[in-house]
Amino acid sequence: MGRTSKISFVFLILLALAGFIFSYSQGWFDPLSKYRVEGEQYSGGEATVFNESVNAFGEAAPNLTGNKDLFFVSGNAFFKRNWVSAPASTADLDGLGPLFNARSCSSCHLLDGRGKPPQSIDEEPVDLLFRLSRPSQDGNGTRKDENYGGQFNHLSVLGVPPEGNVTVRYEEIPGEYPDGTTYSLRNPTYEFDSLAYGAFSKDMMISPRIAQHLVGLGLLEGISEERLKELADPEDKNGDGISGRINYVYDHINEKMSVGRFGWKANEPSVRQQTAVALREDIGITSAAFPEELCAENQTDCKRSPSGGEPELSQDILDRLALYTETLAVPARRDWEDVQVLKGKKAFIEIGCASCHVPKHKTGEHPEHPEFSSQTIYPYTDLLLHDMGPGLADGRPDGEATGTEWRTPPLWGIGLIQTVSGHTFFLHDGRARNLEEAILWHGGEAETARNKFKQLSKNERENLITFLNSL
Ligand code: HEC
Ligand code: HEC
Repeated sequence: MGRTSKISFVFLILLALAGFIFSYSQGWFDPLSKYRVEGEQYSGGEATVFNESVNAFGEAAPNLTGNKDLFFVSGNAFFKRNWVSAPASTADLDGLGPLFNARSCSSCHLLDGRGKPPQSIDEEPVDLLFRLSRPSQDGNGTRKDENYGGQFNHLSVLGVPPEGNVTVRYEEIPGEYPDGTTYSLRNPTYEFDSLAYGAFSKDMMISPRIAQHLVGLGLLEGISEERLKELADPEDKNGDGISGRINYVYDHINEKMSVGRFGWKANEPSVRQQTAVALREDIGITSAAFPEELCAENQTDCKRSPSGGEPELSQDILDRLALYTETLAVPARRDWEDVQVLKGKKAFIEIGCASCHVPKHKTGEHPEHPEFSSQTIYPYTDLLLHDMGPGLADGRPDGEATGTEWRTPPLWGIGLIQTVSGHTFFLHDGRARNLEEAILWHGGEAETARNKFKQLSKNERENLITFLNSL
């Protein structure tokens, strides 16, 4: 070899080496690199906080403007404050009941976290409540029960009988992965006794619901209706077996039909309405949008009980409470660049979890809080209704949601529920004891994804769970 060709040979080797180093640094050889998306650690865009502590769900969005942070602080105080029965010297905070489930928001959403089902058959459910309804006489839609109304209330003020007790029992259902690993799922049954207003009618429909964790709700309000319509595929035109639907529900505050976004069946259109509904149904506090006490048609003692004002809630307190719940920040991802997490994310996308748990959205214009407009967020939801099969069905329609449909819950913050709420009970009624069980309960439109999860190797399943825990 001549001297010049030797030089050019060395030059070529160096060039190849440089090319290799460059492409390696760009992640071209790394199959996981496309799953490492810079910026996705900020799950809530500019409304993200870096907090992995027990208070991870309790911080205000850091980008709040004006005096909203002061409103947030006083909203937080009302969120934790116990309402008292009327008449009381604290006129602002009286009107509890006559029938109720809890005295404050934080009794169910402690530290803005996730509620849990009772831990033994002697324990009365608190964070787990029961919505009730009956088929309407014309067979078209639902109506309230005349003896128990729209929600089962196990507590009451003096002189009004509480509605009764609930006992939760579980039956274990064994199962097995194709690789031979066994598991067991627990199926809940509910027994209502000491019923003060008569036996439940045979056609009573009962929907158990656990209290959700409350992060990033203003951002979810910011996702435009157009975006949700784009994601919806009611007739499953793309033939992927997944047909998300919007739940259109009545907006009592703006007096029109609106897109449902909140609650396990997307049954409430806004945080403000969800807050007013919680005040009335869970605590027994009336407001301008919901001026009537909760008493069912035949609950005469309830109707006679003193009221704390008409309505009981001032507009100012509702404003503060709604602002507080709306502006809770989203905790940032942890370990989002770890190899195991990236592998889990890859599996999550490949087996079809992301078809419903849509990772990324850009919010539109939030009418009240520009802080939540045009934010790139990673909530892992499409806010749409999906048929989840008979295993999860409650058999109780809610708005346009049928008895088998549930809203895809956002997965942001899910890995911190253990830290904040001290447990890992998931799904609408808290039946799943951990993330794995939550996945294994998926049926209906999610059956294919669930089966693909079961077919993963043990290692791959663990990666997927590790990924969920990083959200
Ligand atoms: C008795 C327990 C209980 C109390 C008290 C309670 N909640 Fe809830 N909360 C729930 C349950 C259960 C749900 C799910 C409701 C559904 O699916 O319809 C929920 C849902 C919510 C949501 C919607 C979350 C989401 O991701 O869709 C918000 C917001 C909320 N509650 C705020 C409040 C506020 C504010 C208060 C106090 C005024 C309050 N809650 C009091 C149990 C409770
Ligand atoms: C067809 C839509 C759909 C698909 C596909 C889907 N999910 Fe879900 N997911 C839901 C719905 C709806 C719920 C709520 C069900 C309930 O509470 O009864 C849910 C609940 C969950 C929960 C519990 C959330 C909570 O807050 O308690 C986890 C975790 C979860 N899904 C993970 C996954 C994973 C992992 C996959 C892929 C294997 C997946 N999902 C596929 C719609 C879907």
